[in-house]
Amino acid sequence: MTTELKTITVLGAGGKMGMRISANFQKSAYQVFYCENSPRAQEQVIAAGRELAVAEQVIPDSDVVILAVPDIALKVVSAQVVPQMKRGAILLTLDPAAAYANLIAKRDDIDYAVAHPCHPSVFLDRFTPEEHADAFGGVAAPQHVAASYEAGSDRQKAVLAEVVKVMYGPVIDVHWVTVKQLAYLEPTLVETVACMVGTLMKEALDETVNTIGVPKAAAEAMLYGHIQIALAVAFRSTNPFSDACMIAIEYGKENIIKPDWKKIFDQKELDLVIARMLKIDAIER
Ligand SMILES: NC(=O)c1ccc[n+]([C@@H]2O[C@H](COP(=O)([O-])OP(=O)(O)OC[C@H]3O[C@@H](n4cnc5c(N)ncnc54)[C@H](O)[C@@H]3O)[C@@H](O)[C@H]2O)c1
Repeated sequence: MTTELKTITVLGAGGKMGMRISANFQKSAYQVFYCENSPRAQEQVIAAGRELAVAEQVIPDSDVVILAVPDIALKVVSAQVVPQMKRGAILLTLDPAAAYANLIAKRDDIDYAVAHPCHPSVFLDRFTPEEHADAFGGVAAPQHVAASYEAGSDRQKAVLAEVVKVMYGPVIDVHWVTVKQLAYLEPTLVETVACMVGTLMKEALDETVNTIGVPKAAAEAMLYGHIQIALAVAFRSTNPFSDACMIAIEYGKENIIKPDWKKIFDQKELDLVIARMLKIDAIER
């Protein structure tokens, strides 16, 4: 890998992640090229004060090429991009699914990395209105990043971490894991479990209001406060759940959760969900 990373290309610069990371790169000292395919998204890039670049012209000069394109497009897009990259450059993707599924085009003389934002923690101390408003991260509220750079030395990881800290900034720390571990973090831990439970709670709120007829304000007040204390007790042991609450928790587990739910940590289940996400038949190894 190039020991210094100075020149960066963002492909998909007008998409959701592309716009976020580009806004942070725009304030940095890196030379960044913004590439975008769709005319509507191109307008967004320009409206944000960034110039559009032609991918074929800038990729060969870039130390890092970031593919901020949909995961289902990564096979095709990487097959176009990888042959154009300079030797020693890094191809950086923002989600582990395609890398885990071996869909990214391979070359021996470039490096591969994945960096995914953790989003600001529910336990983060937030002080300013901007920090409170920044639910996603990358604007004002500090967040961690989980990343993979399996071929990278400690020095190379440190250099790439500087890029990652800019694009997802403010960043507290970058945690280096393998691609497989990153895939267990997302989707398994945070989407299959945490996001699913989030939507379950929303459905339970709707049921309480619409079917039972509890006033919405009362139900929301009760739920939002209890989400906070449930997380504090479960993860931080701030105080124990009451004996009656423990009985209700067990009742909930018996009625809502399948006894074998931890099978989602079997690798064949991980393969299954990732194949489904990428809209492919199966993961090939
Ligand atoms: N959206 C999120 O919350 C989120 C969070 C973390 C990671 N990610 C990851 O970020 C990546 C991008 O996701 P997104 O949600 O921003 O997608 P998106 O659909 O919002 O944006 C993708 C953009 O890429 C453009 N594009 C497609 N092919 C292109 C090409 N060949 N050249 C240039 N531009 C091209 C599209 O026009 C679009 O503007 C994915 O890997 C996703 O998993 C997304």
